[in-house]
Amino acid sequence: MELRELLLNLKIIMFGGKGGVGKTCCATSSAIWAAEQGRNTLIISTDPAHSLGDSLGIELAPGIPTPIENIDNLTALEINPKANMAEFRGLTGMNPLEEMGMGDIMEGMPLLGDLEDLASINPPGIDEALAFGKILEFIETEHDYDLVIFDTAPTGHTLRFLGLPETLSGWIGKLIKMRMKLGNMFGALKRMFTREEKKSDDSLEMLERLNQSILNAREDLTNPTKNSFVVVMIPEEMAILETGRLLNELIKYDIPVSNIVVNQLYQDTTGLCDFCKSRREMQQRNLTKIKEIFREKLLKNLIEVPLFKEEIREYDKLKEMGEYLVKESY
Ligand SMILES: Nc1ncnc2c1ncn2[C@@H]1O[C@H](COP(=O)(O)OP(=O)(O)OP(=O)(O)O)[C@@H](O)[C@H]1O
Ligand SMILES: [Mg+2]
Repeated sequence: MELRELLLNLKIIMFGGKGGVGKTCCATSSAIWAAEQGRNTLIISTDPAHSLGDSLGIELAPGIPTPIENIDNLTALEINPKANMAEFRGLTGMNPLEEMGMGDIMEGMPLLGDLEDLASINPPGIDEALAFGKILEFIETEHDYDLVIFDTAPTGHTLRFLGLPETLSGWIGKLIKMRMKLGNMFGALKRMFTREEKKSDDSLEMLERLNQSILNAREDLTNPTKNSFVVVMIPEEMAILETGRLLNELIKYDIPVSNIVVNQLYQDTTGLCDFCKSRREMQQRNLTKIKEIFREKLLKNLIEVPLFKEEIREYDKLKEMGEYLVKESY
């Protein structure tokens, strides 16, 4: 499917690729186009070094979906992984003694040491995992958005991110077991000391819900009628190599890919200085290579975007870029 069709029909579109190639510009331009076609669109930056607000020329408060003034149907969000750390602590429930007001009673008992160890178990990449949890909310829970566009971080980070459902699911499974054991143990102790009735354990339920939504999100992300990953690149050897690795990983994770954007192309040679001419030649050689390597293999749609004279940011320029992205091919 061409990008314009994806933007009109899918629920999720992710833009990714090597650092600095134009992912944010492409994601934002596409989001503006989709919003102006009447689709209620949310654009989310999952890059810890956010630049979504800068691209749109507005200030985005971290973690708060902000409707964009003057563009109907468009909301932007920069997720803030750090803010979710507190939620994570609550979820693991690793402080049951404190919760029960029994810290003093248990002081000096050998168990306490074990608990502290448990409390310090953070799975690798927990900040990303938490950001992912936030994203699940937008994929899995009911909301009014027709389309959620992801402006992702450079390749390595995004791939770790896409691998998270598996990692996280396994890890949450372990945590659930641990919670159950701890819950039983401390429930019994607490009843012994306080004679309180057995209470239900909310955090355990939350973990189970989280696990389920991870599995559901995984299904959505791998379903080509719901999600597609758009690879953004520039016509340079290093970008070709990195894109190759990215595509292989996306295949491994079963993430549907249908479009490649080749960005920042020098236009025809007339009027170009020697420097620009030789850059254009280099780009054209690499463009040919890109078409040979990728197009046949799995990409039906290759979108060429010229190098603009100016920086691409704020409405007018983003809209101009959007026109290239959604151009119908004949
Ligand atoms: N076709 C283009 N013509 C001119 N400038 C461009 C073009 N595409 C992108 N740029 C410029 O390149 C810079 C990087 O673009 P952008 O922020 O979209 O890249 P990115 O891939 O999101 O970067 P990062 O990996 O840091 O997130 C920006 O200053 C943008 O204005
Ligand atoms: Mg970016």
